[in-house]
Formats: sequence, structure tokens, C-alpha cells
Amino acid sequence: MNRTVILGTGAAVPNKVLTNKDLETIVDTSDEWISTRTGIKSRYIAEDGETTSTLATEAARRSLDMAGVRPAEVDMIIVGTTSPDMVMPNTGALVQKHLGASNAFAFDVYAACSGFVYALTIADKFVKENPEKKILAIGSELLSSITDWQDRNTCVLFGDAAGAALVSGSNDGERGILSTHLHSDGCLWELLYIPGGGCVYPPSAEMAEKRDYCIRMHGNEVYKHAVRSLTEVAQEALLANQLDPEDVDLFIPHQANIRIMTKVAERLKISPDRVYMNIERYGNTSSASIPVALDEANRSGRLKPGDLVLLDAFGGGFTWGAVMIRW
Ligand code: UT7
Repeated sequence: MNRTVILGTGAAVPNKVLTNKDLETIVDTSDEWISTRTGIKSRYIAEDGETTSTLATEAARRSLDMAGVRPAEVDMIIVGTTSPDMVMPNTGALVQKHLGASNAFAFDVYAACSGFVYALTIADKFVKENPEKKILAIGSELLSSITDWQDRNTCVLFGDAAGAALVSGSNDGERGILSTHLHSDGCLWELLYIPGGGCVYPPSAEMAEKRDYCIRMHGNEVYKHAVRSLTEVAQEALLANQLDPEDVDLFIPHQANIRIMTKVAERLKISPDRVYMNIERYGNTSSASIPVALDEANRSGRLKPGDLVLLDAFGGGFTWGAVMIRW
């Protein structure tokens, strides 16, 4: 049966590490509060020259190297991001340029923390139609560029990173993407958003002074919706494939908060040893969080052929979604 398979994965982070102790010198917070409320200990923060497209390119290059595929063989590049280098061109086009992927077309998906799951879903649909196509699905963010470093409610949460997966078609038994599930609810946009920078509230001196180009979040409300939506869409994916929670070998939820991940896994009845968590070292990297975790699991040998992997995302919009993969 023809399915979309992941031929290679890759990830990239900036050089600089910002610890909770470092944050104690920036805002009124503590390592104790951040660790116990979120599970985060440190995160990577970009410095000069590191951008969403350069991180995405590095992650993509690593996925191509793993697959033994040349940039010129790539047909399509999809980048999930909420922190593009520029409004125009799209980040995918810049990745195409940096990689030298001269035969690819490229575009961005704007679905916040669900960006990678959305990108992978779109890639899956294209591969279903053209199994020989090679597609890069990427999640890349420089959240540090849209973080209000005076707002302790949000600045302790985010980090910068990129992750990529190169996909194509295969007839290798049951291997590949089994199903994809996407959802949105635009009615709840005000719980997690960036007020300025778009046509409603264009860039201005006032906007910059109020730091209204930065992420605003009603954390408590988002928390409740995240737990509910992540649980429901994971159950939807299990049901669609007539699988039970105990069939899942590795559950990779969006890394927003260790308490959210624990609660969702409990509700799904997936045991803690089968939940991938790396939020301690990265913080919340939005669309990059799932592909970075997938790449770590892949490179560390945690994933074995035939394993059942469940990706589960939630973010601003709201957007949420799941992808079930037979590795
Ligand atoms: O990635 C997209 C989706 N995003 C998410 O899923 C994030 C969902 N939300 C969360 O993860 C949590 O709501 C947060 C981690 C953002 C906040 O945790 P919380 O347990 O919901 O804390 P809270 O907002 O209810 O704040 C509790 C207290 C408040 O003080 P009072 O009013 O009780 O005196 C805050 O002012 O903690 C205070 N607080 C802090 N204290 C020290 C908030 N931020 C900090 C901080 N350091 N950084």
C-alpha cells in the first residue's frame, strides 16, 4: 500500500543557551517557579545572524543528509512558522535559496504551534497524489523576536529552534503516515495572539513602544483548551485507525508545558515512559517542538521500525491536530 514515509529528520538550535537563572536577572521570576509550573530549565535564544530561515535550512540539510537526498531532488518545501524572517518573501523561499533546492516550490503555513503537523499533513496529501515527490516539512521559529522580555507571564516560556522531516512515497508494507487530523477554532483567537504588525494594527512607533508585536496569552484559559483539544484529537486518531492507547509506542505532544503533557497522557492512558518530553532543554518552540522531538527520538534510536508514533499539536488560532505514523 502506498504511504508517505519519513526518509530523514533534522533539527537545529542557536548557540546561545538562556537558563532560568539568567531569566531571574531579567524579570521578577525564579528557577523554582518556572521549573515547577512548566518543566522548563533552559532554552536556546538566537543571536545575530541566526534567523528562522537559517535554522530551518540547517534542520532541512540534516534531514537530507540522513536520507541521502540532494537539495536539487527536493520538489516542495513547506515551513510552519509564526516568526518568519520577513512578511514577504515566505520563509520556505529563503530555505530554498539557502539550500540550493532549485527545483522546489516553497510556501509557509501559518498555524502557530500546530505548524509542523499542518505542514506534514499537506505534504502527505501531495505525496498521495505523486508518490515519487520529495517534500520537506519544517517547523521553525525565532520566538525570541516576538517575545515581550518585560512580561514574565510569557517570556520564561519560549525558545528558538527548527525541525524538519523529508517525506516521500513508499510501498514498504504498513510503514508510513496512517492518518492526519486537523482542527481550528478562530472564535478563541483572543486567548493567544500577536496584536500588532498586521493590517489591523500596522507597525508604528506606538506599537513598538507598547511591544504589541509580541505574543500575548491568557495562560490559564489556553491551558484548559490545550488539554481538552490535545486529548480529543489524539483519541480521534486512535479511533480512525482502530488502535488502543497501549498500541502507541511513542507519543510526541507539543512541548508547551510538562503539566499539560502529563495530563493529556493520563487522560489518554498512555504510560509516562512512552511520552517524549524535552521541554526542559528547549522551552516552548512552537511549530519546531514536535519535529525537534521527533529528530531526537529518531537519532537516539528510540524509534524502531514498525513503532507506532502519535504526533499531537495545539496552538494559537486556535489550531490543533494529530498525525499517526507507523515508523
Ligand atoms: O504553545 C501554545 C499553547 N500554549 C500553552 O499551551 C500554554 C498554556 N498555559 C500554561 O502553560 C500555563 O498557564 C502557564 C505556564 C503560562 C502559567 O502557569 P499557571 O499555573 O497557569 O500560572 P498563572 O498564570 O495562573 O499564574 C499563577 C501566579 C500568578 O500570581 P498570583 O496572581 O497568583 O499572585 C502569576 O502572576 O504565578 C505568577 N506568575 C509568575 N511568577 C513567577 C506568572 N508568571 C510568573 C513567572 N514567575 N514567570
